[in-house]
Amino acid sequence: MDRIFNAVDLRRALGGAEGTVLVPTMGNLHEGHIDLVRQARQAGGPVVTSIFVNPLQFGQGEDFECYPRTLEADCDKLAAAGCDLVFCPSVTEMYPETQTFTVHPPLADQLCGAHRPGHFEGVCTVVLKLFNLVQPAQAIFGKKDYQQLYLLKAMTRQFNLPIRILEGETIRAQDGLALSSRNGYLTEAERAEAPRLYQVLQAAAVRLKQHDTLARVEAWATDALQQHGWNVDYVSVRSRNSLLTPENGDGQRVILAAARLGTTRLIDNLEVDVD
Ligand code: PAF
Repeated sequence: MDRIFNAVDLRRALGGAEGTVLVPTMGNLHEGHIDLVRQARQAGGPVVTSIFVNPLQFGQGEDFECYPRTLEADCDKLAAAGCDLVFCPSVTEMYPETQTFTVHPPLADQLCGAHRPGHFEGVCTVVLKLFNLVQPAQAIFGKKDYQQLYLLKAMTRQFNLPIRILEGETIRAQDGLALSSRNGYLTEAERAEAPRLYQVLQAAAVRLKQHDTLARVEAWATDALQQHGWNVDYVSVRSRNSLLTPENGDGQRVILAAARLGTTRLIDNLEVDVD
């Protein structure tokens, strides 16, 4: 498996390869990422995984500096999963100029964006750059980062990028906790409490199906978490089609939540069909 650190070497290594599948990551890889790589392999062409901790998507006071950088272990896992090439550029390689053009997606001030100003601008900007560098035919993103996936699909469509976006199902620990690089920050007690986030989403989905109002479901779920010491950023029922509040008659819904246990912020979501 090749390891490439800059754009020139990347172009040379890819040599105009067709059908490339890109798996963008920030490293510190877990089974969720490896599942994306496996899915990418099934898509056919050469698999490129990028590992880049993108400063642009971290806010002030967030964990950019201490975000785990585990390149050697990541490369071992990627090689075992059948990845063909790892692209791991430096910050100066990705952002060589002091003034940076950025992408400003819609909905960037809602849900996670309301609590992480600038986050989705940073995500969309780096992914657009990665798309331009790798020129993949397909790219894959996990559904755990639901708003990110929604915005990247919209960006690809609206900027007419000739890239098919594939979706990876959320991979969970046996107790239901969605795998995330940030789970490693949890203390033992917090890790034991963490599965409640998904349990509350599942119980909220039952309430939605029983035609409880959105406001009541959101308030119930928020309270259920707060009672166990969670600091809730939001619990929100949205339309899967628009990521806005669902219109009457739009039964394709998703419940999204973000909440903190101690200093660790966890997110999760659950799609629900309501008739
Ligand atoms: O989901 C992530 O790990 C990141 O947001 C991404 C898509 C790699 C962009 O930095």
